[in-house]
Amino acid sequence: MSQALSQLRKFVSPEIIFGAGCRHNVANYASTFGARKVLVVSDPGVAAAGWLGDVERSLQGQGIDYCVYTQVSPNPRVEEVMLGAEIYRANNCNVIVAIGGGSPMDCAKGIGIVVAHGRNILEFEGVDTIRVPSPPLILIPTTAGTSADVSQFVIISNQQERMKFSIVSKAVVPDVSLIDPETTLSMDPFLSACTGIDALVHAIEAFVSTGSGPLTDTHALEAMRLINGNLVQMIANPHDIVLREKIMLGSMQAGLAFSNAILGAVHAMSHSLGGFLDLPHGMCNAALVEHVVAFNYNAAPERFRHVAETLGIDVRGLNHLQVRQRLVDHLVTFKQAVGFHETLKLHGVSMSDIPFLSAHAMEDPCILTNPRESSQRDVEVVYAEAL
Ligand SMILES: [Fe+2]
Repeated sequence: MSQALSQLRKFVSPEIIFGAGCRHNVANYASTFGARKVLVVSDPGVAAAGWLGDVERSLQGQGIDYCVYTQVSPNPRVEEVMLGAEIYRANNCNVIVAIGGGSPMDCAKGIGIVVAHGRNILEFEGVDTIRVPSPPLILIPTTAGTSADVSQFVIISNQQERMKFSIVSKAVVPDVSLIDPETTLSMDPFLSACTGIDALVHAIEAFVSTGSGPLTDTHALEAMRLINGNLVQMIANPHDIVLREKIMLGSMQAGLAFSNAILGAVHAMSHSLGGFLDLPHGMCNAALVEHVVAFNYNAAPERFRHVAETLGIDVRGLNHLQVRQRLVDHLVTFKQAVGFHETLKLHGVSMSDIPFLSAHAMEDPCILTNPRESSQRDVEVVYAEAL
């Protein structure tokens, strides 16, 4: 009998529609789900940019009734998910649409879970905890990075405990993702940098994850090429729709990779940090990425060599130690080029916070697929290096 080429792997994805202007078709997709009344989840910034209005006009055009919920913070909170679920029930909705960055999209996923089960969102922390299918869910991302619109992740902030928690289940992959690069034209340079770095980290972590494989590798590598090759230029030319499209495509590819291969210690540590200080997710990743890569390198040197080559580093004739250094240097240069210079200390983290942060990072599902098995002590050391 011949040897199997790889371990068993699965791949989940929503129905994806990619292209400039596709947001205007949201009503067509809602009507295919028999929409009687739609809960539209967004946030004040997205509403001000006009993208929410486009969704409303599309629904009005087809005579579909809807109500709008925009009370969503940059890191969506338990209370906001629960309030959104109450509004969904009170208005007798039967379809959810979200337009926005990761926050409205994660909030919408959380609302779907709560209305399907009739329980608090806190009860669903962890992997494969969803028992009842959510209502039809259509997501329209307005940032190029989080990929909540293609992923099986939900990240919610628990303000009481000062931590974020993850829900991982194929039940939270939306039914439809309308990926419209035009919506990213409203991102300012800081948001473009945060979400772009997040997407690059998704691609790298997915490629070196213990859950990686042939179904996800091609997506991860293409995402690295697109983001590494275009993010700096896109931030310098924010109105260039071709560059916006390339970064949006890169973000989507990274999303498909990490949703299925899962992530690693950057995200486990970044979720803990973001919950503790309520900081932007991409900024947390930027502060940690090169330190985690240096820590992980020897556990997967061939994979990291491939990452380095994909990021345009000439690795010919270099040993692992030299490639590791080149890769770390490249990541530092890249993140500085998009505007990240801060260490954790500048964000208000001190040595005495590290045990708390590390304990929560160890509970995050992303730590399980990190290429190097990590103890709490290891995580503490990496946080200390990033201080
Ligand atoms: Fe992320």
